[in-house]
Amino acid sequence: MTAEELKRLYFDFFTARGHTLIQGASLIPQEDSTILFTPAGMQPLVPYLLGEKHPAGNRLVDVQKCIRTGDIEEVGDSSHLTFFEMLGNWSLGDYFKRESIQWSFEFLTGREWLGFSPERLHVTVFAGDGQAPPDEEAAALWEEVGVPGDRIYFLGREDNWWGPTGATGPCGPDTEMFIDTGRPACGPECRPGCGCGKYFEVWNDVFMEYRKTALGEYVPMGNRNVDTGMGVARTVAMINGCDSIFDIPQFRPLFGFLKKLSGTGDEPSGDARRSLRIISDHIRTATHVLGDDQGIPPSNLDRGYVLRRLIRLAVRHGRKLGIDEPFTHRLAELVIETESGDYPELARNRNFVMKELEQEEERFEETLQSGLREFEKLLPNLSRNPSRTIPGRVAFKLYDTYGFPVEFTAELASEHGLSVDMDGYTKAFDRHRELSRQGSEGKFKGGLADNSEMVTKLHTATHLLHQALREVLGDHVEQKGSNITEKRLRFDFSHPDAMTDSEIRLVEEKVNGIIKADLPIVCQEKVLEDALEEGAIGLFRNRYGDMVKVYRIGDFSMEICGGPHVSRTGELGGFRIISEKSSSRGVRRIRAVLE
Ligand code: ALA
Repeated sequence: MTAEELKRLYFDFFTARGHTLIQGASLIPQEDSTILFTPAGMQPLVPYLLGEKHPAGNRLVDVQKCIRTGDIEEVGDSSHLTFFEMLGNWSLGDYFKRESIQWSFEFLTGREWLGFSPERLHVTVFAGDGQAPPDEEAAALWEEVGVPGDRIYFLGREDNWWGPTGATGPCGPDTEMFIDTGRPACGPECRPGCGCGKYFEVWNDVFMEYRKTALGEYVPMGNRNVDTGMGVARTVAMINGCDSIFDIPQFRPLFGFLKKLSGTGDEPSGDARRSLRIISDHIRTATHVLGDDQGIPPSNLDRGYVLRRLIRLAVRHGRKLGIDEPFTHRLAELVIETESGDYPELARNRNFVMKELEQEEERFEETLQSGLREFEKLLPNLSRNPSRTIPGRVAFKLYDTYGFPVEFTAELASEHGLSVDMDGYTKAFDRHRELSRQGSEGKFKGGLADNSEMVTKLHTATHLLHQALREVLGDHVEQKGSNITEKRLRFDFSHPDAMTDSEIRLVEEKVNGIIKADLPIVCQEKVLEDALEEGAIGLFRNRYGDMVKVYRIGDFSMEICGGPHVSRTGELGGFRIISEKSSSRGVRRIRAVLE
């Protein structure tokens, strides 16, 4: 069975059961600025899961392109991809556990559908904890359709609770479906979710009955939804009896091309096989990111950085296999050929994909050569270090001087049985940032008392507050002044009226939501005009043509500022507004603390 055939069957099954087929969304989330890529089919549907009416009704079916870079280190094994297609059927306040479980069972085991033998099906359900009860109902429903109790497993929140994908949002217990591959068990404790590969997860039904608030509480929602996710490649692999998702028809042309180019044999194993898998996955993902109508090019920031990292990792694995000519665009061509039937945007954006890949591979080649040479020069010394650890400042120097990404240093290091002191790397990075801040201090004065840790944290919190105020009160909010001590921040901004209690609470919730989301803070130097053009805000005293620093907090905030800032919002702790009053005519003053 091919991916196309599986998708068609799924759509047939669910449209025959009252579902309307809808278009999947872009890979770039439109609604939620706290995540880089659409990680699941439910993401674009969040407003509807929270109760908004969907124009196509309350039973939907679709296939959604997804990216999960959290799994990037796992790619190369038999079951992980960074880009994948997720089939989903949705109940928006309509059916719930009973229909969902019955239909999942029927679609997986029905002869005219996927036809898996029911004996191969194992399922997991939520075991319950202090926040929500065990899902006995789901277990009973599985037994009712014919899955015996000894193939139903109760697992904790780690395994059987889904969402929310952002800091807040819809979530709930889920039930996951695994196919027994028939491989030997890894031990007496072997069970779905143990990770040994005997049980292969193909589908997940989430019973979304809760909403997580910014305070971390789970409150029951008025309407109960079902959100399901079936991995296309995983399921096709199981239907075809493949040992790995990379053995499905979709990957054949990619592997064929790479094997020919690299001269690996027909049945590569070990490191060569891992490299082939990584290259195929990463370039397929890069092709879909570049081929999305939003057209994100590789860069050093956010999505562009993820893309850059994927392309560069693929190129490096290509070099390992002995491919020393540009090849990623040729591989992308095959991806476009195989997948543009379902994703016509790939063909539409073909020129952009090709051009960006060629350029990035060229740029990387230069970086790679100088970085690798430097690493090899350092290696004899590093290997003598008894702790087998590469100091953070060395990794930072490779990055700073040669543009050699720290992940690459880490990977090269592990090939030589070494590791990298990542904390030390972050410290060196921050120290460098601090020094360059002091260098530009003459140009910029922020209202900071000193650069202690607490002041730095409060300074980052000030950026969050600024953006949250703009979102809650409106774009007329502008910084009029800022003063930070060890104990509190003070922020003056333009706004005609006193804030209401609920506005204050909303602002706090937004700031705390971003803190919980643990977003990275990235600094870039730019010409002032460019920064403003991109929408950066902030109180600055620079002249046009000056270079300024722009601090971005995920996609949430972008502000011109001299720094310093913490590296991730998660370091801040709880944010609370302690007072809001008038400062002068048309200007309000907020004092706030981190606790
Ligand atoms: N949202 C659920 C998942 O991604 C279905 O697994």
